[in-house]
Amino acid sequence: MSTPRSAIVGYPVSFSRSPMLHGFWLKHYGLAGEYGRCEVAPDGAQAFFADFERHGLAGCNVTAPHKEAAFAALDEPDDTARALGAANTLWLQDGRLFGANTDVYGFLANLDDAAPGWDAMDAPALVFGAGGASRAIVYGLLQRGVGRVLLANRTKARAEQVAAQFNIAGAARVTPLSWDEGEARMGEARLLVNTTSLGMKGKPALELDLTALPGDAVVADLVYVPLETPLLKRARGRGLRAVDGLGMLLHQGVPGFERWFGVRPHVTRELRELLVEDLRAKGQLEA
Ligand code: ATR
Repeated sequence: MSTPRSAIVGYPVSFSRSPMLHGFWLKHYGLAGEYGRCEVAPDGAQAFFADFERHGLAGCNVTAPHKEAAFAALDEPDDTARALGAANTLWLQDGRLFGANTDVYGFLANLDDAAPGWDAMDAPALVFGAGGASRAIVYGLLQRGVGRVLLANRTKARAEQVAAQFNIAGAARVTPLSWDEGEARMGEARLLVNTTSLGMKGKPALELDLTALPGDAVVADLVYVPLETPLLKRARGRGLRAVDGLGMLLHQGVPGFERWFGVRPHVTRELRELLVEDLRAKGQLEA
């Protein structure tokens, strides 16, 4: 049998840490396998995923902006990919293209890891942002049984669209809010999640006054460059549990690695240190 190969597919992919992550696991488990990068321009995405077999890959990860194009090409999407209309993990099986959305799994597994007990709180989650990442997070929170999600966005109409997608059959578990309304309801939340691009290197900081958050609240950021975003710094300063986006990246890689290379890998301190060291070397630990 030939050596299984996988890759990260997106545009751009030069900054992706996925090759480092999967390379660590391949070496750690002593497996024959390769994990590379495939930069595919937006106008080439549809052709790339159609007839996927010709690339000689066992599967791939997919990052922005191709998660929707990847989903559209699937023969067998899993339930999560179908619910979100987006796939980030693909694999071939018997000539058919399977796909999953493991961002949801990665987000939840990271919270379980970094803030155990977070889901035992009978209180709303407050999510900022209403883009593709936000939909994955809202879906995951609802799947996990969080009773109510307050969804705040600069453009309230987008929050309303996301809420409408999830508030089916008369249930109103997602409450769309304007940005200001979200800030005003901070005191109700036990979990706050940033899914916007604010706080990313090169973008403005996410300026939220966290004073009203209860003392046992958890603050999570999907951003991991920098690792310590201004939001997380502020949360730690208040003594709150703060969960960074790097853990989500590490955990979302687990299901794909298992599909392509046959071993379910572990997210360990050693692995995280490798990635943190890379962020440090590039001056990306802090804003
Ligand atoms: P992704 O798919 O990665 O979530 P996206 O669809 O572009 O990316 O969504 C980006 C999110 O960041 C949106 O919620 C966006 O708010 P709008 O819907 O109002 O555009 C949010 N965002 C980006 N820049 C922002 C800013 N300066 N202030 C507030 N929100 C911002």
